[in-house]
Amino acid sequence: MSAPSRTIRVAAIPADGVGIEVVAAGRTVLDALAAASNGAFAFDWTEFPWGSDYYAEHGRMMAEDGLERLAGFDAIYFGAVGSREVPDHVTLWGLRLAIVQGFDLWANVRPVEVYDGVPARLEPGLEWVCVRENSEGEYAGIGGRNLAARGNEVALQTSIFTEQGCERIMRFAFALARGRRRKVTSVTKSNAQQYGMVLWDEVFARVAAEHPDVETERVLVDAMAARFVLAPQTLDVVVASNLHGDILSDLGSALAGSLGLAASANLDPERRAPSLFEPVHGSATDIVGGGVANPIGAIGSAALLLDHLGLDGGDRVRAAIAATLRDGVLTRDLGGRARTHEVTDAILSRL
Ligand code: NAD
Ligand code: IPM
Ligand code: MN
Repeated sequence: MSAPSRTIRVAAIPADGVGIEVVAAGRTVLDALAAASNGAFAFDWTEFPWGSDYYAEHGRMMAEDGLERLAGFDAIYFGAVGSREVPDHVTLWGLRLAIVQGFDLWANVRPVEVYDGVPARLEPGLEWVCVRENSEGEYAGIGGRNLAARGNEVALQTSIFTEQGCERIMRFAFALARGRRRKVTSVTKSNAQQYGMVLWDEVFARVAAEHPDVETERVLVDAMAARFVLAPQTLDVVVASNLHGDILSDLGSALAGSLGLAASANLDPERRAPSLFEPVHGSATDIVGGGVANPIGAIGSAALLLDHLGLDGGDRVRAAIAATLRDGVLTRDLGGRARTHEVTDAILSRL
């Protein structure tokens, strides 16, 4: 066979826990698509052994020049970090956040979809998308601790909201909404947080005024949690700060049936750096190694990778996921008995 016309270099970082199982599943799906592309594209994988085991050996979560080594790739396909041995803030800041913030992957796209055939708390067919600000906000990582000797230690954890940071994620949300149902709901907490969240609201109002064809709404985050449960049919694109988006995306996927279903793309829309694709869930230390992890969040993230790189196949992967679930091939988190590889095989056979 002749050489593929396009070779996509992907850095795989399975990292910890079920991340290893679900990244393996997603890779088989991407490789199967490439094999069926009639030479249109192929994946050239480089796997990095970074994560908590690497930390035990080297005292760091990734190589010192990790970002430089990743910079040349077309995309990063990530599993999850987190282990019982290393504190979570060390694993997260040492790897996932180091990459996402280091490369300024500022747009985190997290679709919520209620599939047919899944026992969910919401009606099948409901679908909306969380757009999470991914570079600042409550995750700015700025603060400190002191005064422990006084017997009343003080900790500061500072949120950063910049006009540019708010504006770019809101413009991104509006652009996305224009290709969908033309509604953007901004999540805020400006009643209590009178600086950062008020700036957030003001920028939203300004960007909204430039998009008169898009319906807009501003909802306080606590009310938004209730809205996810009670009236999700009113949602299209939901734009939220880093922490609000984190929490709401877990809520959305749980309502849709399981955290194991949720896909996510950490994008640099300016394409200066490789974007990172990963399931929303974590390392799931409670089920690791059992071969029972739901691979659909990771496989759906692989579909988002294809979309971002302009490769055909994302829609086929999503259709194969939907068909698999409709046919009742369900992992344990969805009340079924299928194992990780059985769900993956079912998706492969429906591609
Ligand atoms: P988690 O997402 O790992 O697990 C929450 C629950 O969902 C668990 O009951 C788990 O069994 C279930 N679950 C998660 N993924 C599943 C899958 N694919 N199939 C079936 N069930 C699944 O969240 P947690 O327990 O809060 O965190 C565990 C560790 O993961 C922590 O160290 C945390 O910091 C880390 N974490 C990492 C990421 C990431 O790397 N992106 C994301 C979230 C949490
Ligand atoms: C996620 C995770 C991470 C986040 C954690 C593990 C730092 O929960 O990807 O949703 O909050 O960004
Ligand atoms: Mn999360």
